Amino acid sequence: MLRDGTVFDDEHLPNEIVGRNRHMNEVTDALAPVEDGFRAENCFLFGPSGAGKTTVARAAVRELRREVLDLPTAYVNCWADYTRNGVLERIAKELVGAAVRQNAPIRELTETIQAGLTGPAVVILDEVDQISDSKVLYDLHTIHGVAWICIANREIDLLADLDDRIRSRVSVGYSVNFDRYDETTVTEILHRRAREGLDPSAVERSVLKRIAQLAEGDARTAITALRVAARKATSEGLSTIPVRFVESSLVDAKDEVRRKTISKLNPHQRSLFRVLERDGPLIQKHLYEKYREEHADPISLRALRKSHLPKMEHYNLITSSRDNRGRKYRVVPVDSAELTPLEDGE
Ligand SMILES: Nc1ncnc2c1ncn2[C@@H]1O[C@H](COP(=O)(O)OP(=O)(O)O)[C@@H](O)[C@H]1O
Ligand SMILES: [Mg+2]
Repeated sequence: MLRDGTVFDDEHLPNEIVGRNRHMNEVTDALAPVEDGFRAENCFLFGPSGAGKTTVARAAVRELRREVLDLPTAYVNCWADYTRNGVLERIAKELVGAAVRQNAPIRELTETIQAGLTGPAVVILDEVDQISDSKVLYDLHTIHGVAWICIANREIDLLADLDDRIRSRVSVGYSVNFDRYDETTVTEILHRRAREGLDPSAVERSVLKRIAQLAEGDARTAITALRVAARKATSEGLSTIPVRFVESSLVDAKDEVRRKTISKLNPHQRSLFRVLERDGPLIQKHLYEKYREEHADPISLRALRKSHLPKMEHYNLITSSRDNRGRKYRVVPVDSAELTPLEDGE
């Protein structure tokens, strides 16, 4: 059944990117100046989870590296590195291999990065709506040759928090919008993944199509479901995946994706999630009070409202509704199929 399990890992970068030519072209256009030794245009990719944003960004950079040997590149996952220092420390390490002391001043970090570069460089800032201070985009702008590809779920004004003088100097050259995949594309993505990772006759196209139907345009959930189904079939000693496995595999896949998302939460989000699991639903004021008890170094409600809470809603970990006492938050139950939206006023 299984030939190569790594093909189903989220980090696996496929050789061919299916159905995203326009998106690939826009990103490679933004990066093209690098081929002549110049700084690339900054670009911003946004769209829902599982729509291929990270994959397209990484594939475009991979393509560029075929032309430009030794191009310094860095990938920052802003779930993990979300402070201004954290992002720059990660970039110093990945881009120029510099070890920097903790809590070094910003200036020292940018100078270290600059000193290690002799030409253009490209930085991917994934899940950029997690960063607590967008000044880091300006910091990067001050380093000659560095351009960024920023990735987020929603179209946000990346530079909104910068003051006008600074903002006018940093530009977002390209904005690329990713929609959910249609069923045919997800089926094709699954087909290629099966060809790479499973035995030749392990799964019929009709089964892949059924998975795609239920995955609602989310390639991550679809690929995870295919792996789950292959595992189930193997454990029952079958050599092909029967269609009756599909539905339960999707439930398991959604659960797995959710657990991975929870494990990525930053300390503030983790506290919020714990409080809501234990004491929810809670109106905003009470949620904030309990979060302050839970977290050793709490941030302002405004900061939570701006990025942390919307991000958790986006990933369907929590949901909110309004009533006359304000916004109320609750954890989305594991079997979200059963969830009916909260009525206003509940
Ligand atoms: N166009 C595509 N062709 C092949 N595989 C894809 C494509 N789009 C997404 N995938 C796969 O789907 C999964 C999720 O894609 P990803 O780029 O991480 O989505 P996003 O960053 O938008 O959440 C990954 O395993 C990726 O390899
Ligand atoms: Mg991604």
